[in-house]
Amino acid sequence: MKIGIVGGTGPAGKGLALRLASVGYDVAVGSRSSGRASEIIEDINEIWGEKGYSLTGVSNEEAALAEIVVLATPWDSCAPTAKALKKQLEGKLVICMANALARVGNEFHALYPPRGSIAADVQAAIPGSRVSMAFQHLPAKELGEIEVPMEGDVLVCADEQSAIDETIEIVAKLDNLRGLDCGSLANAAPVEAFTAVLLQLNKLYKTRSSVSIIGLG
Ligand SMILES: NC(=O)c1ccc[n+]([C@@H]2O[C@H](COP(=O)([O-])OP(=O)(O)OC[C@H]3O[C@@H](n4cnc5c(N)ncnc54)[C@H](OP(=O)(O)O)[C@@H]3O)[C@@H](O)[C@H]2O)c1
Repeated sequence: MKIGIVGGTGPAGKGLALRLASVGYDVAVGSRSSGRASEIIEDINEIWGEKGYSLTGVSNEEAALAEIVVLATPWDSCAPTAKALKKQLEGKLVICMANALARVGNEFHALYPPRGSIAADVQAAIPGSRVSMAFQHLPAKELGEIEVPMEGDVLVCADEQSAIDETIEIVAKLDNLRGLDCGSLANAAPVEAFTAVLLQLNKLYKTRSSVSIIGLG
């Protein structure tokens, strides 16, 4: 299964790419500059080359040709980027990992885009694709530390059940992480926004917090 990561040269996309490759996915890391994506892969291979992971550095256009595509650009470029790749993304599962945040003084505050969430904005930009929201609460640094299993729940929303199920299937491959069906994209707004709370906790408690839901058995 090939997964493309559009905007995969940032810490979050790169960390997720490495983690997905470490559990056997064929991952295409995309960038607006394929040269930059190749450099990122060279950096990864310097550390992890012996593992033989299937990772390539490509343009965003090429990454969007994969069977499943993750959007890992900054929040305000997710919908425009998806729209520009509409043809390549048609009919596919597109996973949006963005959080809309703004730094206000010493804090990060959540921003609310017109449809409530970035994922809903992306879905509106590419109506022929099945957009899910996931991975918001996983810190990039820990994503990239593949020798340490991550802990916590990955909250997943989408308007199509198949998009939720397929995203949860991917999460299930990652040790110790549990994907949870959180309903339609109407629920994506509080999930994305909650990241601001986690960042505040990280700062105050000098840690890297994540989310774990109790009571589900
Ligand atoms: N950082 C975290 O811990 C974390 C955790 C979970 C989720 N997230 C979310 O994941 C996403 C990526 O986070 P990040 O920290 O990796 O972000 P980032 O470094 O700011 O951006 C990721 C990549 O997006 C591309 N990009 C930048 N501006 C763009 C634009 N205007 N249009 C298209 N592409 C652009 C850049 O790649 P090229 O220049 O190579 O094209 C950049 O390397 C964000 O939406 C963030 O909210 C972050």
